[in-house]
Amino acid sequence: VHDALSKTDLLARKNEEALLGGGLARIDAQHKKGKLTARERLDLLLDEGSFEEIGKFVMHRARDFGLDKEHYLGDGVVTGYGTVHGRLVYVFSQDFTVFGGSLSETHAEKIVKIMDLALKNGAPVIGLNDSGGARIQEGVVSLGGYADIFYKNTLASGVVPQLSAIMGPCAGGAVYSPAITDFILMVEDTSYMFVTGPSVVKTVTHENVTSEELGGASTHSTKSGVTHFTAANEVVCIQQLKQLLSYMPQNCEETAPAQSYTAEGDESRPVLDTIIPENANQPYDIREVVEGLADAGSFMEVHRNFAENIVVGFARLAGRSLGIVGNQPAVLAGVLDINASTKAARFVRFCDAFNIPLLVLEDVPGFLPGTDQEWRGIITNGAKLLYAFCEATVPRITVITRKAYGGAYDVMNSKHIGADLNFAWPSAEIAVMGAKGAAEIIFKREIAAAADPAAKLQEKVADYQEKFATPYRAAHRGFVDEVILPAQTRQKLIRAFKMLENKVDTLPRKKHGNIPL
Ligand code: COA
Repeated sequence: VHDALSKTDLLARKNEEALLGGGLARIDAQHKKGKLTARERLDLLLDEGSFEEIGKFVMHRARDFGLDKEHYLGDGVVTGYGTVHGRLVYVFSQDFTVFGGSLSETHAEKIVKIMDLALKNGAPVIGLNDSGGARIQEGVVSLGGYADIFYKNTLASGVVPQLSAIMGPCAGGAVYSPAITDFILMVEDTSYMFVTGPSVVKTVTHENVTSEELGGASTHSTKSGVTHFTAANEVVCIQQLKQLLSYMPQNCEETAPAQSYTAEGDESRPVLDTIIPENANQPYDIREVVEGLADAGSFMEVHRNFAENIVVGFARLAGRSLGIVGNQPAVLAGVLDINASTKAARFVRFCDAFNIPLLVLEDVPGFLPGTDQEWRGIITNGAKLLYAFCEATVPRITVITRKAYGGAYDVMNSKHIGADLNFAWPSAEIAVMGAKGAAEIIFKREIAAAADPAAKLQEKVADYQEKFATPYRAAHRGFVDEVILPAQTRQKLIRAFKMLENKVDTLPRKKHGNIPL
């Protein structure tokens, strides 16, 4: 048939065929599930007309189980490059209409090829995942393909940002590519991730669980923390990808693009003066402080529903990208526990890898006590956050809003571990522990022997409070650089981060550190 076609007709026909993936019936089936096709997703993600495809006519080379008679141009993944808000990105988008988006040797080769380009040219890689896993008919060849991708993901880690959106199944070995990338986004109801699916789970552990319960977006955003973001639908998910990219540089040699910013008059924010409650034991929402400090509407929270006792996310300050880590007094009084520590540690390391300055908002009563935490390793896990701050060389500033107690004071980006500037609000309490607990321990005998123990305790608490429940002991030492009013904080931070703009700091030469994993 081809002989009868002109060369340009043949090309046009192949192009058309490639655009149809697994064919119209399967495209319809995809739409009926509430899912977009691989190409529709790329259309939404990339600037109009910017997409250039690579490997459009690639086909698999398998011969077993009838595959020698079934071929689709592109082999289940659309790969190439384009721009998002004018900036270069490399993309792969798995096509569920072709063998369920399953990963063959050639499918993997296409992904590796764009990752190699991304590494050499220093631009982010965005993967849109929608796949039934390893191409079963290909066996170990397909597994090798996965490993090639994992290896490349690891080499690219810290060199270029890697983002993974999960828009359908992502099961078995397939999960480990997204897991190594910097951020995972999942679409609610239509995506899931698990190492072994419900039927295997039932056989092995006798648990009855649905795909959604086992590995849906809500599970991974609340219970496991595997996903950093969830979206109500694919369109929102793609918007999130674009917004996320806007805070990041193209690669580890660059800084994030600044947005143009003109101050609207005074940078003072009186609303910040009203957030901290009179009573130090009363909660408040640290997000209100973030919103008050950052450029209006610029805060994008990461891991919003996981380990809510710590808040992390990106924002802008006078147009500049910033990573924010804040204890959340509204949840568990803002204590550090295992999940909060690992959540924040990973975020700090991302920011440090990609030259995004860090702002820490500190109000922490300490680490969460108890057998559960100790037996599951709060020591090792808390150390991750400590380590992550210690090794971070980006500009780092801490604002102590209220409590900075115990070891957690050291951990939360204290000056002792390399923070560039530490500010405290007048409400700050920088101490080994709360005044009552402290008085009960150090004046135990004196209180017991007193004619009126309650009055004695009260007196000792007041004494300890006066000495340590303030920022001044720390300020006298220079552990706090300045005690500032909440309303002035935005102005102070704008100046301070500007002052730190050209900071150069390096770690001792080493192969790599050994963060406690
Ligand atoms: N290898 C090869 N083909 C696969 C595949 C795989 N891993 N997964 C799905 N497909 C094919 C199906 O044969 C089907 O082909 P068809 O369009 O010619 O009928 C097509 O993809 C769609 O799959 P289907 O099962 O009809 O879709 P679904 O939405 O009902 O279910 C899955 C999707 C992913 C849950 C299901 O296909 C599945 O369990 N796949 C196997 C997953 C797995 O164990 N992978 C290997 C471990 S890594």
